[in-house]
Amino acid sequence: MKVLVAKKAGACFGVNRSLDLVTQATTKFKKVVTLGDLIHNPATVAQLREEYGVVSVNSPSEAVECGADCVVVRSHGVTIHVEEELCALGIEVVDATCPHVKFVQKAAFELAKTCDVVVVVGRADHPEVRGVCSYIVSAGSTPVCISSQDELQQNLVALQKCNSVGVVSQTTQSSKTFQNIVNSMKECGMNPQVKNTICAATSQRQAAAEELSHNVDAFIIVGGKNSSNTTHLADIVAKNCRNTQHVESPDEIDFLALRNANTIGLSAGASTPRGQIEAIVDFLNSNL
Ligand code: F3S
Repeated sequence: MKVLVAKKAGACFGVNRSLDLVTQATTKFKKVVTLGDLIHNPATVAQLREEYGVVSVNSPSEAVECGADCVVVRSHGVTIHVEEELCALGIEVVDATCPHVKFVQKAAFELAKTCDVVVVVGRADHPEVRGVCSYIVSAGSTPVCISSQDELQQNLVALQKCNSVGVVSQTTQSSKTFQNIVNSMKECGMNPQVKNTICAATSQRQAAAEELSHNVDAFIIVGGKNSSNTTHLADIVAKNCRNTQHVESPDEIDFLALRNANTIGLSAGASTPRGQIEAIVDFLNSNL
């Protein structure tokens, strides 16, 4: 039995950076909290709590209430309103917003200065998208979140009435969905100003896992079940390799399903630290 890890797998630059920033903060401050779970990975969140005493809070005021002297903003970023609330707290704020997300915020802000509406191709309820929308509003424009053709159809008449429309994307959006939405807008006679702000980390992991999935008998995706990019990775792989499992830890592996597999592919979402991938590889190598 051979375990083959996809060429690009696991924690991206932004996630690694946020983990570094939070652990560095624990060496300087007595009580460090994160605004929301730092990443969508329950094992890592538990490790931060147990090893470093880092807990997550739901609001800036909760950080003060629990006696924190440092609050960390996670890689998704926050809204301008929350940034202002954090500044007013009088405690240290460590901004772990991924530089790629900062780039989307800036691109949306610039478009919003001249466009009636800025479309954000992404999920309206995603924290990154909420933050980006706040930058659009602050520049005097109106954000419209669209994540599918259906949602585009629902907003099409209103968009066609606008003089100028800008488009940006949530960093983790699929290129195909983004391009299809932009193409549909153009086919309907619109001439949007488009800034493709998709981060390559997600598509690189998807392409590498997809490629590997053609050549293995079984596939294991490692990462939080609450991580949408990890779940999406499992869905992509499962199309080519029906014997696919999505696990958070070695004890979740279904060994019965692997008994006839000669080669097992392995990949992990952008929120899965390298150590968790290595733990699964070691476990497979010593138990199969
Ligand atoms: Fe940043 Fe891209 Fe990761 S936006 S958090 S490097 S998926």
